[in-house]
Amino acid sequence: MTVLITGANRGIGKALLDGYRLRGSEVLGTARAAMETLLPLDVTEPESVTTLAAKLAGRPIDLLVCNAGIYPDKGQSFEDGYPPEMWAKGFATNVTGVFLCIQALLPHLRRAQTPKIAIISSQMASDELAPGGSLIYRASKAAALNLGRNLAVDLKPERIAVGIYHPGSVQSDMGGPGASITPDASAEGLMARFDALSVATTGCFETWDGRAHPF
Ligand SMILES: NC(=O)c1ccc[n+]([C@@H]2O[C@H](COP(=O)([O-])OP(=O)(O)OC[C@H]3O[C@@H](n4cnc5c(N)ncnc54)[C@H](OP(=O)(O)O)[C@@H]3O)[C@@H](O)[C@H]2O)c1
Repeated sequence: MTVLITGANRGIGKALLDGYRLRGSEVLGTARAAMETLLPLDVTEPESVTTLAAKLAGRPIDLLVCNAGIYPDKGQSFEDGYPPEMWAKGFATNVTGVFLCIQALLPHLRRAQTPKIAIISSQMASDELAPGGSLIYRASKAAALNLGRNLAVDLKPERIAVGIYHPGSVQSDMGGPGASITPDASAEGLMARFDALSVATTGCFETWDGRAHPF
C-alpha cells in the first residue's frame, strides 16, 4: 500500500508519516522546504503540484492524505484584521491546494485497487458549531469539507472513497502546547479511520476517535 501525505515535515502530517512507516507501508511525505526524505510540494503553487504528479507518473497511490494547512487568522479583529491577502492565502492553501493535489494525483489513485482520499478539515468547519472568530480558517475548512462531500459523489462511480476528518485538538505548532492530544495519538486514530473508509462510507465527516461529526 502506498500512502502520500502532504505537509509531512511536522505536526500531524509527520506523525502520520511515522505511523505508516512503523506499519511497513510505503509512505511518501511532502514538504515545502527541500528535505532529504520528503518530496518538495507547495500546494499553493500549481506547477509544484503538477511537478510532483509527474515525478510519480505510473505509480499507484492507495491513500492520499490532504493534510497541509494553515490557520492564518488567530485573534484577528474587525477593526484592522482579516486583510484580503490573508483570505487569499488561507483559501489557496486550505481549499484550492487540496483540490489541486487531488486533481493532479487522480491518475495515480485510479491505478490503486481500493483508492482513498482523506481530507484533514477541522471541527471548525462545522455550521452547527459556529461560535464566531477565526473567520478565514473556519470558512476555508468549511469549504474543504464541502469539497470533500461533493468529490465523494463525483468519484463514487470510480470507486474512489473520500473522507473528511477532524484530527482532534492537537499539540502541534498550529494547536499549541495546550491542545488536548499528541500528534501521535491523533495519527493513530486517523489511521484507523482511513482503514475503515470505503465506498460505502464515502463522504463521511468524522473525528479522529471515530465519532460522526455534525456538519
Ligand atoms: N492542530 C490542531 O489542533 C488541528 C485541529 C484541527 C485541524 N487541524 C488541521 O490538521 C492539519 C495539520 O495541522 P498541524 O496541526 O499538523 O499544523 P502544523 O504543525 O502547523 O503543520 C502544518 C503543515 O502544513 C504544511 N503546509 C502549510 N502550508 C503549506 C503549503 N502551502 N504547501 C505545502 N505544505 C504546507 C506545513 O509545512 P511548513 O513546515 O513548510 O509550513 C506543515 O507541514 C491542517 O490541515 C490543520 O488545519 C489541526
